[in-house]
Amino acid sequence: MSKKILVTGGTGYIGSHTAVELLQKDYEVFIVDNLCNSHISVLTGIEKITKKKPHFTKLDLTDKHATEKYFHVHHDIDAIIHFAALKSVNESVSKPLLYYKNNLESLVNLLNNMLDKEIPSLVFSSSCTVYGQPDRLPVNEEAPLKKPSSPYGNTKQISEEIIRDTINSSDFLKVISLRYFNPIGSHPSALIGELPLGVPNNLVPFITQTAAGIRDQLKVFGDNYNTPDGTCIRDYINVVDLAKAHVVSVERLVNNKMNESLEIFNLGTGNGYSVLDVIDAFEKVSGKKLNYTIVGRRSGDVEQVWADVSKANEVLDWKTERNLEETMLSAWNWEKKYRGIH
Ligand code: NAD
Ligand code: WQD
Repeated sequence: MSKKILVTGGTGYIGSHTAVELLQKDYEVFIVDNLCNSHISVLTGIEKITKKKPHFTKLDLTDKHATEKYFHVHHDIDAIIHFAALKSVNESVSKPLLYYKNNLESLVNLLNNMLDKEIPSLVFSSSCTVYGQPDRLPVNEEAPLKKPSSPYGNTKQISEEIIRDTINSSDFLKVISLRYFNPIGSHPSALIGELPLGVPNNLVPFITQTAAGIRDQLKVFGDNYNTPDGTCIRDYINVVDLAKAHVVSVERLVNNKMNESLEIFNLGTGNGYSVLDVIDAFEKVSGKKLNYTIVGRRSGDVEQVWADVSKANEVLDWKTERNLEETMLSAWNWEKKYRGIH
């Protein structure tokens, strides 16, 4: 019998790529999403790639009663991957209560139902944002967490604390918290990808939308940082590599391979790239010159951060396989296909 995996936020960017990887490994996939930041048509993309259908229920996880009703029916779920959250750093500054309510209430409701139905295994979407500007690079999982620079970042720190306290109160709950660095790119089929609503905040969708003629010009936020070319450095990880780490984590949980009831892993490539490196890679694979200009720094940006991924490499036996150019090509192919550009 195949294991039943619940993917919350499964029609979203990372969730949809993870659903594909799970279905390809013959897991039975149950998606819940309230569709506040994704579209139901994503299910068609998942089905086209895998020739399999995930179960889908439209559910707002902050709705306590609806969530209880869902778990009443689906009490036999084997493991949960919890992606559902709001993720815009900017929006969280202007609407902090929306972020605290959505991201924390949904986690609390989920954990309550896991305790109630004795569902033991959870993978949680955390973020490198919890490190702020680390004192030492590459940053490992032991690094002290810095005061969050946004309410969004704070929801991730608080979520990790909520999870730790809940584990301490339970004799069966096990959690893997994955701290993603900067996920980019799309499935190589270009049937699913990143679909930001409105003007993108993130670098890569802004690049591809500029090249597609939807935005006039990319603004590079600052070239006077203390980095080799003066622009900020990040660890950009391919979304398919990232999705595969979730499958490995689920396997570790359901096969009882955990060393501790809470395990935390950085998910990145271990390499830092500057904004100009990303633009170069895009220009190389697309054959297009990108219209960009250097402007002032964006407030809240950390100067440089990249991951020490040795723990994930060793303990999860996982590592990234796709390089920056291949990943930028997948992002561009997705944008072209979505916009009908040939
Ligand atoms: P996304 O917005 O594409 O996907 C999240 C999904 O959750 C969306 O489909 C949305 O409709 C759904 N959702 C939100 N609130 C919900 C609720 N209350 N009930 C049910 N569904 C709800 O985002 P993503 O990029 O796929 O991110 C997934 C997770 O990874 C999030 O927790 C995010 O904070 C985390 N993360 C993302 C990044 C990134 O750069 N994309 C980096 C680090 C961590
Ligand atoms: C990358 C680099 C910008 C846009 C955010 C969240 C973080 C995490 C990942 C969820 C930076 C520069 C960007 C543009 C630019 N999400 N840039 N022009 O800021 O590293 O992280 O997403 O947990 O919490 O903060 O990603 O893609 O916004 O920026 O020059 O138009 O690109 O300054 O150096 P960031 P990003």
